[in-house]
Amino acid sequence: MKKTLLAFLTSLALVQVFSQEQGPQPTLIPAPVSLQVNAGTFILPKAITVEAPDQPALTQTLKELKDHLSIPTGYVPPVSKTANPAATIRLILNKTPDTELGGEGYRLAITSKNIVIRANQPAGLFYGIQSLWQLFSKEIESSKPVKGISWQAPCVTITDYPRFGWRGLMFDVSRHFFTKIEVKSFIDEMVKYKYNLLHFHLTDDEGWRIQIKSLPRLTEVGAWSAHRVGTFGTFSVPGPDEPLDNGGFYTQDDIRELVAYAKDRFVDILPEVDVPGHSMAAIVSYPELSCTEGAEKYRVISGEKFMNWPGPQAIVDNTLCPANEKIYPFLDKVFTEVAALFPFGYIHVGGDECAKNFWEKSEAVKQLMQKEGLKNMEEVQSYFEKRVEKIVESKGKKVIGWDEILEGGLAPNAAVMSWRGIAGGIAAAKLGHQVVMSPTTFVYLDYMQGDAILEPPVYATLRLKTAYSFEPVPDGVDPKLIRGGQANLWTEQVYNTRHLQYMIWPRSLAVAECLWSPKDKKDWNSFARRTEAQFARMDIEQVKYARSMFDPIFTVKRDDNANDSISVGLSTEVDGLDIYYSFDNSNPDNFYPKYTVPLSIPKDASMLKVITYRDGKPIGRQTDMPVEELKKRARLKKPE
Ligand code: ACM
Repeated sequence: MKKTLLAFLTSLALVQVFSQEQGPQPTLIPAPVSLQVNAGTFILPKAITVEAPDQPALTQTLKELKDHLSIPTGYVPPVSKTANPAATIRLILNKTPDTELGGEGYRLAITSKNIVIRANQPAGLFYGIQSLWQLFSKEIESSKPVKGISWQAPCVTITDYPRFGWRGLMFDVSRHFFTKIEVKSFIDEMVKYKYNLLHFHLTDDEGWRIQIKSLPRLTEVGAWSAHRVGTFGTFSVPGPDEPLDNGGFYTQDDIRELVAYAKDRFVDILPEVDVPGHSMAAIVSYPELSCTEGAEKYRVISGEKFMNWPGPQAIVDNTLCPANEKIYPFLDKVFTEVAALFPFGYIHVGGDECAKNFWEKSEAVKQLMQKEGLKNMEEVQSYFEKRVEKIVESKGKKVIGWDEILEGGLAPNAAVMSWRGIAGGIAAAKLGHQVVMSPTTFVYLDYMQGDAILEPPVYATLRLKTAYSFEPVPDGVDPKLIRGGQANLWTEQVYNTRHLQYMIWPRSLAVAECLWSPKDKKDWNSFARRTEAQFARMDIEQVKYARSMFDPIFTVKRDDNANDSISVGLSTEVDGLDIYYSFDNSNPDNFYPKYTVPLSIPKDASMLKVITYRDGKPIGRQTDMPVEELKKRARLKKPE
């Protein structure tokens, strides 16, 4: 008896040792609702078989599953469409709905024998598969065969479903045009982290990107500008003979292809036609849409300054004129074709940053105000939005717009996308309207993610840790009215896909977790560790990302009563890093002074160089910070 007990205890101890030896813990992003790590490891056999339901909605998922498995491993799985309990990977649609899971949830069980994913709907199986890849050895992400790997995953039991149904990423393809192939890879990347909505910002001052067959000039003229690189917003105005050959657009066939591509990956596309502001490309194509004389001389914006901020005050009139009856049949044509192309229930009608200074001067607008009893320019915009809502609804779609559409009175059924903080979302929800939270403070991916001294310049900063603190449901608001949230990538300063990836990742990992995972599962330290594991996967996928979370953060404080004397605090977003520095212009390493308390600047020093280390290895970028820059920041800062 004693012997049996001893043998049992020894075997328990072995299980413990074995499970400790299984390697790293799962590093899933977004964190699942529940994850139990069990003893043991699944090792992919050479002879894999897959069981999958016979469902047209899963055709692409199965193709991707086969490719994802067979390209790196070389093991090619046959797929059976009938129940096969002996299959290596079993994808099962529940005959009786599992009420905990909803339409996008799944249960994933990995044992040493096999992998079983169960869901109510195909989307759930798709998300279960996305989690499965993150559990396998990272080399599973390779697009080439990899030799000498034991393809393994820890034994786990996962139950998972999203917190929000609207998990969006906005892609601005107007400021810079991105090809159909680039949009497809954007979709490929977003679904890995369970985003399900691509908000497609298709029109703006810098280009109209969607073919409207009844209005051909929108893409013959409105899609093209002069080529410029550098700091957007400071470029020279194109000369009269300069070629306008920079840009592009999607044909209606392209759009149908993208919609189908997205649907195969369980992504909806929300099209945005941004009116009545941000409309220069439309006005250049059809100058009669303006209330301002001389609009026929305008050009699509190539990145020159044409607005004054704050305001906005337009230097050239980039608005559709609500008092001009021609704009409504124009918009009717646009929304007729847009509605026919995109199956998603909403059309985004923009509404943001509409400069009113040309409306203020317009006789036609004054007459409209008198006729309709409109008291101010906000009410003029509201009049426009209400007419737009009627047009969009006549096409069988619902309207969503940026939070400015609240000003002057919200159209009766419009949903609001809250971007100037969360106040617009709160106000709209209090009026009973649907809301998507997308505040600059947490989800603007065009902002810099590290110190301005290191990052490509943009006018604001959003660090990863701040993005991770995004909470879409404000206190006191009916959570049922908050559809979800989304992160926005504006592309004024994004010229190519490598930089696009750099701006998206890892902040979109943070937002993905805020939108999918239960609020009480969020944990910054755990997220930072899991993000690093995703970096290793992105390295294999050759996806670029920002490592700014490892870089030093400088905080400056003016010393009391000393004229120009400051103290400099150094920190990092990620815990557990060592910070080394120099003031003598040489490049510091881990033999240099280690930062412990705020630094005073030695007399006459002109440069503070800083680098972060972990476990004796450099991990952040060396940051060379001019002392003059620190003093400037201290002067700008209000005394505490
Ligand atoms: C916006 O960022 N103008 C919506």
